This record gives sequence, C-alpha cells and structure tokens, in this order.
Amino acid sequence: MTLLGRDASRRRHQGKMQDLGFELMPLLEIAKEILPPDVANTLREAVEKAANSRRGSPTSSYWYSLESKPRNILEEVIPILRAVVPFTVSEECIGVDWWLGMLHPPYAENFPYGLHRDGGRNPVSGNIEGPSLSTVLYLTEVDDGALAVYSGEPDSIVGDIRYAFPRANSFAMFSGELLHNVVSRKSIIGIDSSTPSSGVRLSVQYNWWKFRPGRGNLGETAADYSAEIYPELLSGV
Ligand SMILES: [Fe+2]
Repeated sequence: MTLLGRDASRRRHQGKMQDLGFELMPLLEIAKEILPPDVANTLREAVEKAANSRRGSPTSSYWYSLESKPRNILEEVIPILRAVVPFTVSEECIGVDWWLGMLHPPYAENFPYGLHRDGGRNPVSGNIEGPSLSTVLYLTEVDDGALAVYSGEPDSIVGDIRYAFPRANSFAMFSGELLHNVVSRKSIIGIDSSTPSSGVRLSVQYNWWKFRPGRGNLGETAADYSAEIYPELLSGV
C-alpha cells in the first residue's frame, strides 16, 4: 500500500485507535492486494501443499531474523509486508515468527486456539509478552471464519470489535496485545448468515518482535527453521 493508500484507509476507519509508538493505527487495519497477483497465486499453491504435508507441527512457529537471507517464499515476501506495517514496527523489530494457517469449515469450531492473545517468552524479563504487531496474510477468500479483534474483554460493555473476512491477497494488522479469535458469520450481528463458504481458509501468520521470543502460551514459538520442513515453499527462492 502506498502512503497515500494508508492515509485513505485511516480516514475510512472509525474504530478505536491503538497507540503503537509514534503512530496511531486502527484496531484492525487491512491492506488489500498486498502482493503482485502472480506471487500471491504461487504462494497460495505452495502453502496449500505445505500445509497438507502436515510435516511442520501445527503448534510451532518459525523464526526469521529480518537481517537474514530468506529461506522460502514466505520469507521472500516479508520486505513487501514490512513496507506497510507501522513505522515503529518496521524500525524496531528484529524478526518475525511465522506459521501456516489452514482451516476447513466449520472454521470457528476448527480454530484450535479459541479466544487468545499471541505471546512468547521475553528472554530478558522471563515474562510471556505479546509481539509488537500481529499480522495475517490471507491466501484464499471465504465468507465465513472471520478474524475478530477486540479492544478489550469481549464481554465488556465498553470496547470495540473489528472483523476481517478472509480475502485472497489481503493483509490484516493489529496490535500484538489484543485478544482475537476466529468467529462464525452466524455470530456477527447485522450480517446475512445464509450463505457461508465451504472452501479451504488458507493464511500465513507473521508476528513482529523486538526480541526473539521463547516458548509461549500457544506452543513452540519462534523455533529454528530448516528448508526440509516445508520443501513445497522453496519455489521462487
Ligand atoms: Fe493469534
């Protein structure tokens, strides 16, 4: 997204603003058509094969230092993603952990983590902390299984919720401290629930960190990666 596009997106969004260092960003910000279409197609095909291989642990994420050479096409596109994250995240983070997301309907019921915050252990403080920014790159389009991001506790009468339905080649960003989950469209007030999708919901999660996190609340976080784990992702590197 160009700077112009980012400003326009901010003006459209009326949600609660999150103070993220020097910048204010919406509760949930979406960049559309983030990758060149041919790259997005290649990525979708590769991620589907890799996710179906079931070689990587479903509860592991893999560490990528922003200073290092990309080892697969997921890492090769990180500079494009880095160009649209908030400036403070781009400048201060040293790396990302990434993992594959594949859900079949019913998406919300099949989402393994439920309502949660992302987290990993800070090696200095010893505490479980959130990333600077949580992001999701969607690779397929489904009209169900929306990402929901909450400004506070979901059952609080104050607070805000923002939803993002998976749209191929869109990139969702929210502060890494926020509660989030995957919800059925039936649970979203005010939208038609008669035509849910049935396709595969494919995504790649990228979380952005100022430190390399250790094992977190959801499983093995920021594990070492070697190309043999997902050889399907090597095309294009
Ligand atoms: Fe998460």
